[in-house]
Amino acid sequence: MIDLSVKYMGFNLKNPIIIASSGLTDSVEKIKELEKNNAAAVVLKSLFEEQIMIDTYHRIKSSGSDYTDAFDYLNTYTKQHSISNYLKLISDAKKSVDIPIIASVNCASDSEWINFAGKIESAGADALEINVSFLPVDENISCTDYEKKYFSIIKKVKSKISIPLSLKMSYYSSGLAHLIKNLIWTDNVDSFVLFNRFYQPDIDIDNFKIRASNMFTSSNDISTSLRWIAILSGKLDAEFVATTGVHSGEDVIKQLLAGATAVQIASAIYKHGPEYISEILKSVEKWMINKNFSQLSDFRGKLKYNKELYNSAYERTQFLKYYGSE
Ligand SMILES: Cc1cc2nc3c(=O)[nH]c(=O)nc-3n(C[C@H](O)[C@H](O)[C@H](O)COP(=O)(O)O)c2cc1C
Repeated sequence: MIDLSVKYMGFNLKNPIIIASSGLTDSVEKIKELEKNNAAAVVLKSLFEEQIMIDTYHRIKSSGSDYTDAFDYLNTYTKQHSISNYLKLISDAKKSVDIPIIASVNCASDSEWINFAGKIESAGADALEINVSFLPVDENISCTDYEKKYFSIIKKVKSKISIPLSLKMSYYSSGLAHLIKNLIWTDNVDSFVLFNRFYQPDIDIDNFKIRASNMFTSSNDISTSLRWIAILSGKLDAEFVATTGVHSGEDVIKQLLAGATAVQIASAIYKHGPEYISEILKSVEKWMINKNFSQLSDFRGKLKYNKELYNSAYERTQFLKYYGSE
């Protein structure tokens, strides 16, 4: 009998597949369908700080009001409007399904709007994922100053909630392992979701325009999170969840072997529909039977970073075999 259950942030998940924050999780109907098809948990579509600011700006523009006069009123209105819709989604979802509902906010700053994290908890969310995404593009801000933002945002959010907190972050850091070690030491982060996927720009060479490239991933995109899950789970004691490029049972197995506690999936479900979750699980089960494993802990972390054995495989930066004389 194969047991796919996992313990994640204190929840007993029936399997390691969590549906990642996206349009897949922005309505109760969709969440019910995901549960029916064996999703173990869902992360709700994020409430974006940046989006709220943009909505405020558009409302001010279309109202024709003087910017400074209108800003305070519309800023408050837009925030309340977005937040109350979001809180309703949480409480309606909680009434409709049994799987854990993880709310998500995308933070760019530690400004006062974070205060509503407490309301998310009151609305019934089981956990909160904060997506803290910095692209270190400002030539006047040092990497240390960028990284300080993680600590200040997490501290503020954590002071508002007692539900578990996961951090979805980017890999832009000049000392990622050190940063995560220090974040673990704060004792405020229950799980690390690696990594956030940024909007990907592309250039249209015929029309000299900047456009969005494909927002969906493929299995080829798995390597960055695979490498870092393996290295970090081998060195640090924390829960790591893999996201980006998980498209098949094989990808799930790879991430578990690297040491992930669970995986988050979006693109593959956009592509194949919620029914695909069961297909992925079946192929994990089949592999486990083949290898004589009965539970995930039998093989989780089997190929995580290990100083003696795998050091060169995960820390290697050059394709020496191809470019050098070895
Ligand atoms: C259409 C779409 C919408 C997304 N919206 C969000 C979002 O609101 N918040 C967030 O943290 N990530 C968002 N993501 C990123 C996903 O949660 C996920 O991290 C990313 O797609 C990589 O996983 P995948 O390879 O399984 O697609 C979105 C992704 C897609 C494709």
